[in-house]
Amino acid sequence: MHPDLKSKVKTAQEAAALINNGEIIGVSGFTGAGYPKVIPAELAKRAGELKAKGEEFSISLYTGASIGDECDGVLARAGIMKMRLPYQSHADVRNNINKGLTEYIDMHLSHSARMIRMGFVPKPTLAIVDACDVTPDGKIYLTGCGGNTPTYLQTAERIIIELNTHYGDTLIGLHDVYIPELRGEIHIHSAGDKIGKEYVQVDPNKIVAIVETKLPDSLKPFAAPDEESNAIAAYILEFLSHERKKGRLPNDVPYQSGVGNVANAVLGTMAKDPAQAPVALYTEVIQDSVFDILEADKLIIASGASVSYSLAGQEKYKSNAHAKNWKSKFVLRPQEISNNPEVIRRLGVISMNTALEADIFGHVNSTHVNGSRMMNGIGGSGDFARNCLLGFFMTPSTAKGGKISAIVPMVSHTDHTEHDTMVFVSEQGLADLRGLAPIKRARLIIEKCAHPTYRPLLQEYLEYGIKHSALHTPHSLDKAFDFHKRLIETGSMMVG
Ligand code: COA
Repeated sequence: MHPDLKSKVKTAQEAAALINNGEIIGVSGFTGAGYPKVIPAELAKRAGELKAKGEEFSISLYTGASIGDECDGVLARAGIMKMRLPYQSHADVRNNINKGLTEYIDMHLSHSARMIRMGFVPKPTLAIVDACDVTPDGKIYLTGCGGNTPTYLQTAERIIIELNTHYGDTLIGLHDVYIPELRGEIHIHSAGDKIGKEYVQVDPNKIVAIVETKLPDSLKPFAAPDEESNAIAAYILEFLSHERKKGRLPNDVPYQSGVGNVANAVLGTMAKDPAQAPVALYTEVIQDSVFDILEADKLIIASGASVSYSLAGQEKYKSNAHAKNWKSKFVLRPQEISNNPEVIRRLGVISMNTALEADIFGHVNSTHVNGSRMMNGIGGSGDFARNCLLGFFMTPSTAKGGKISAIVPMVSHTDHTEHDTMVFVSEQGLADLRGLAPIKRARLIIEKCAHPTYRPLLQEYLEYGIKHSALHTPHSLDKAFDFHKRLIETGSMMVG
């Protein structure tokens, strides 16, 4: 290591001692990839000691998206996370948010970096980033995520680097770091286009500590797709083939697939289908299922904000990165580019995201249980849903062993309005809502996507509205939340 950098090498404990009460910390990390792994534990320890002496200690935490337990979990359990943005999915963070201990700003992922640069939300005072390499002149080579890291590095007053050897040099060259000007165009015309640099350039004087690590991203392996996920995947693929036959869908449009098992199942099913043409991904998160497509020789390029691989997936990637030149198949971008409305609209992305609940008129709730309890956040679903060429919202028709219907009369919280939703899919079937007025939408959603046990209740609600309300969107506000009220009162949305 260059002597200028060597002089900055510290232990995690020494680095944590540089963090002050009230600090706004912007960390690298996106969907469990590329987040700091050793400093947060030392920070939590230090905060505990300070609190034991009666001193106040709390921080605000900005990330790219959800991050691992070694950062989110550790800081939440220490009770020092006063504020959090823009997305999380950790049980301990979620509990603190819902107890009112942590303020949570749930944002479109493409919005967060610009909001910070513009000063609409306060800039981070400190950036802590997981990096593969750093040079004496301030070039920082990121690990598994682009996320909001370039903006945090650019705007923070001080920088701490976790220099992580886990991925070796296998991620170097994947990144395309580009921070857009306020009115600048983004010249990406196909999923693999590169318009930026392989590294983030910072003022080296801002680097106050370098902590060496070799820890992997701690992501759990995906469960094998269940019957419901496979059924949803099959409906989507059948529908895409139908649309192509009708001449409504070009062959070369890229895919975005959201987080989770259903998304994994869709890509897994594509890989197995001999009729599937090679695909490009212009997505937010790249998961293990990409390997199925790669090994089936059907991957043109995968562009995303992170490579969120399980432990086994990380090893698989590393051993093939050079040997099979897998490096050339990936591009990692800042999330304001991977999720950029201009680019998504231009490329004509096919988008697939999971809904928590949807209503009969086509509104989607991705975030709130019973309208008030935060689950994870909107993530990138809104960035893609509004701007895609063709968008799917997928959900199993019921949750919690059938006690909850995912299709309800009126969603208890709206993340995606009827104007941003196109196709709903559950294991029961698929409803193409494009070009349909509200009553026709409602009939189709109930018939195709609702679980048979809830269909009569939903039909009853619709018919009651048609009799008693205005006939554009026949809601009955006295009954619109009966499903949710029953759930709160009896533990089930079912009657009786
Ligand atoms: N009411 C209450 N709970 C519900 C529910 C509903 N309508 N629907 C699902 N759940 C519960 C499930 O029972 C499960 O609970 P558990 O963790 O206790 O088992 C949990 O929500 C997760 O549901 P699951 O079916 O396992 O789906 P998932 O892991 O795919 O998560 C979302 C679904 C909606 C929470 C998740 O996709 C999400 O956070 N989406 C928003 C962000 C996004 O779309 N990002 C992608 C953009 S690229």
